[in-house]
Amino acid sequence: MKKFTIKIGAVSLLFLLLVLKLSCTDDQEETSVALMEQTEQEALFLAMQGFVGNWWNGSELYPDPCGWTPIQGVSCDFFDGFWYVTGINIGPVHDNSLRCTRNVEFSQYLFKLKHLRSLSFFNCFVSYHQSPISIPTQNWEKLAGSLESLEFRVNPGLIGQIPATFGSLTNLQSLVLLENGLSGELPMNLGNLLGLKRLILAGNRFSGRIPDCLGGLTQLLIFDSSRNSLSGTLPLTFGGLISLLKLDLSDNLLEGMLPEELGNLKNLTLLDLRSNKFSGGLTHSLQEMISLQELVLSNNPIGGDLMGIVWEKLQNVIVLDLSNMGLTGQIPETMAELKRLRFLGLNNNHLSGNLSPKFEGMPCLSTLYLNGNNLTGELKFSEWFYGKMERRFGAWNNPNLCYPFELISTGHVPYGLKPCQLELSISDTD
Ligand SMILES: *[C@@H]1O[C@H](CO)[C@@H](O)[C@H](O)[C@H]1NC(C)=O
Ligand SMILES: *[C@@H]1O[C@H](CO)[C@@H](O)[C@H](O)[C@H]1NC(C)=O
Ligand SMILES: *[C@@H]1O[C@H](CO)[C@@H](O)[C@H](O)[C@H]1NC(C)=O
Repeated sequence: MKKFTIKIGAVSLLFLLLVLKLSCTDDQEETSVALMEQTEQEALFLAMQGFVGNWWNGSELYPDPCGWTPIQGVSCDFFDGFWYVTGINIGPVHDNSLRCTRNVEFSQYLFKLKHLRSLSFFNCFVSYHQSPISIPTQNWEKLAGSLESLEFRVNPGLIGQIPATFGSLTNLQSLVLLENGLSGELPMNLGNLLGLKRLILAGNRFSGRIPDCLGGLTQLLIFDSSRNSLSGTLPLTFGGLISLLKLDLSDNLLEGMLPEELGNLKNLTLLDLRSNKFSGGLTHSLQEMISLQELVLSNNPIGGDLMGIVWEKLQNVIVLDLSNMGLTGQIPETMAELKRLRFLGLNNNHLSGNLSPKFEGMPCLSTLYLNGNNLTGELKFSEWFYGKMERRFGAWNNPNLCYPFELISTGHVPYGLKPCQLELSISDTD
């Protein structure tokens, strides 16, 4: 019974709303337009025209851009009686998204949108040869009070440097400059962006040192500057990035030792420094990064051995890639205590000695690469292990490594290795 009356109530409310709506549209057509300041609306149309081309006449096509003629990719919000533009996303994200013209230009009117929170360009500045364009160097401070997210993704025709004036955008939480044609050094002023949670600079042509002051970004969760030409050492200040979850500096020209301060990064889940020129051995503070799930240091002339690290402290590690690092010495048995480890790459080093049969007992291990080392003796893994791993077990190019002769009859033998000869096992025990 109670349910019934509620239903009646809902239906009559709906009816009432309908009546109100009808009466509004009848005689108050004007007020149903989302009210905007004249200057705001003009600034929107002129800024957009710079990006999509002069053929585009906003006031004709979208007379009520924050109301009943919304522009795809433009969002608005209501402040003190007027509607303002809060977001502009340009580029082929959806079928009906606005795309950039060939002769795209940054209009100064962009900086008049005083409530703009989010600005993004995807695949907009594409024509590198005909009309490369740089990010404007002036006026960003006008957006300082509002802008929280600024993104340029996949714009090969976007060249030049990061303007130092980005440093005035102190409300920024996300700065994404992914896969553009940008170059030059990273401006120190980026260190002013203390609220930054995400800094993505990957896939450009940035060079020079990483500024020390970036270590002051204590809110930063993700820093990805992979696939650039950054050089010099990793700043010691990076130990101050205490909130950091992901640090990816792979594919650069960074050198020197891994700073011990990295051990402060207790929440770091991903550390990817592959394909740089780091040297000086593995710092034992790696073991202090207890949240690490992926540790990738491959393709660096780091050298040294694996013995200095208490591997079993890294109980969250899932991916451990230490291939092609000039490592010497033995493979520590304690690595087999990494219960979550799925991928272990130790290939293309100078590792020697026997491999502990304990690696067979690792519950999650599905890939193990040991190829291209100087391991010796008999691999003491069972037929079951080779059956489970298949081609994801690699041990070839270890000239003095072999498998038990008895395995031949099972059909599960490690690829590229020879069965142990009787003579060899006799001389081994000598
Ligand atoms: C857009 O169209 C209106 C009305 O036809 C016209 O008055 C205005 O000049 C045009 N604006 C641009 C920038 O072409
Ligand atoms: C690290 O992560 C924990 C758990 O998610 C969180 O409570 C803590 O605030 C984080 N530390 C920092 C410095 O962000
Ligand atoms: C490989 O190990 C063997 C025996 O431990 C040693 O004699 C040989 O010099 C090593 N080879 C290389 C290339 O390090």
